[in-house]
Amino acid sequence: MKDLLCLDEVDSTNSYIRRNIAELPNLFAVTARLQTAGRGRRGHTWEANGGMLPLSVLIKDPVSPETLTLRAGAAVCEALGELCGGEISPEIGIKWPNDVIIGSRKVCGILCESVCSGDSIDVICGIGVNLTQDEDFFVSAGIPHGASLKMLTGTAPDRSALCERIVEKVRRLCECDFGAVYERYKRLCVTLGKQVRIIGENGERVAFALDIAPNGFLVCKDENGFFEVNSGEVSVRGIMDYV
Ligand code: BTN
Repeated sequence: MKDLLCLDEVDSTNSYIRRNIAELPNLFAVTARLQTAGRGRRGHTWEANGGMLPLSVLIKDPVSPETLTLRAGAAVCEALGELCGGEISPEIGIKWPNDVIIGSRKVCGILCESVCSGDSIDVICGIGVNLTQDEDFFVSAGIPHGASLKMLTGTAPDRSALCERIVEKVRRLCECDFGAVYERYKRLCVTLGKQVRIIGENGERVAFALDIAPNGFLVCKDENGFFEVNSGEVSVRGIMDYV
């Protein structure tokens, strides 16, 4: 596949693109067999062993950078739906903003990072798919809501085939008209229509998740009225559980 670099080992695929951004073309993608210092959202680390598929795609000077995180989530769901067997398709969804879940377990995390140079903004869209780790891996990493495709479906799709399919979908959905992706994202988003716990620096708030704003913010309502939350500032959980 054009402009998809496969490394044996890397600290972080997002960091690889960041270091080399000036020389890399738009839509360049990189993956690695092993990622040793992966980064997650909100300053977390992204624990991994060789059972995780890390990849990053560079979107240079996107028209609407704030929509990329939604676009990437929808792209991963499409790729998984096509490669993991029809029977799990109805269970694939997105916990806002972009944890891809099957049932109530997280199988993929997405970290979109902006790189500003002068007036332009480039976005590195980093995706980590849990392919073959076992239950013990997630328990010892302190993420019991995580699961791999192998745990949930009995088998994991071929690593390179899945990587190529996700890259192809991300490239396509990051360049097309946002209207169609936005509606698709909202249909996939399992957070909508639920009571949720919004956890921020100043504590926790319970609200009803109503909608997704076109900039990706979650539109909520509680006894004080409507408000929007930004995924960079809060995390959202179900009332009783992760989803
Ligand atoms: C999350 O916190 O849910 C987002 C995790 C994103 C992990 C991926 S793995 C590939 C890319 N490189 C990184 O260092 N992080 C992202």
